[in-house]
Amino acid sequence: MRLKLAAGNWKMNGTTAALSELTQLRSIDATGIDVTIATPATLIHRAVAIAGGVQIAGQDCHANVSGAHTGDTSADMLADAGATAVILGHSERRADYGETDADVAAKTNAAWGAELTAIVCVGETLDERETGATLSVVATQLTGSVPDGASGETLVIAYEPVWAIGTGKVPTLEQIAEVHDFIRAELTNRFGAETADAIRLLYGGSVKPSNATEIFATSNVDGALVGGASLKADDFSGIISALAAA
Ligand code: 13P
Repeated sequence: MRLKLAAGNWKMNGTTAALSELTQLRSIDATGIDVTIATPATLIHRAVAIAGGVQIAGQDCHANVSGAHTGDTSADMLADAGATAVILGHSERRADYGETDADVAAKTNAAWGAELTAIVCVGETLDERETGATLSVVATQLTGSVPDGASGETLVIAYEPVWAIGTGKVPTLEQIAEVHDFIRAELTNRFGAETADAIRLLYGGSVKPSNATEIFATSNVDGALVGGASLKADDFSGIISALAAA
């Protein structure tokens, strides 16, 4: 059985004061599920010290182990700070920095080299959705962004339609199921059923406590990658509870 995963992505939000949200999350009953928060890199070390059972993740890493890359953070550095996972290929990084599928694959290999779980993000733009290209876009991103050698311990896939991120718009449950079933099938073709069945598939994009229960009841949804609603412990705890009850 895949352990369900509630993952928060704080993006570029949070200074020292935000650590109190993590302190509050510690007391939420998350029995039987994994909870991960991707804090800004500057908070990882302190977050790990107070997070209790909540795992801490990075939001990006460089493909190289070290070197002359001013401003970048290596996977080894994230692991050294206490992170256990890293989000890679988020659509904001693909858009802001032109990250390609090949870049994401190289970063994923770097994450694995540091024994971090890679949370690899895929998802279509509104234009791609409206022109019927969703599944082909997701297939291309999956093939290009996920290196050979994936396993249920080392890889999580987050399906995040770009048009649903931070907009309050959520695909229909049928649309979510269609893409998640498709991702599972693609992973099965590539890695075999046993490995594919162990890889967790998260939905991301405007997940809130109010819509979490129905999303978590959808086919092949093993949890969520949550942006805005992960910033406040009150909101995120509602999502954690919904997942624990799913
Ligand atoms: P929102 O939950 O704010 O829509 O963000 C989703 C996301 O991008 C998580 O990575």
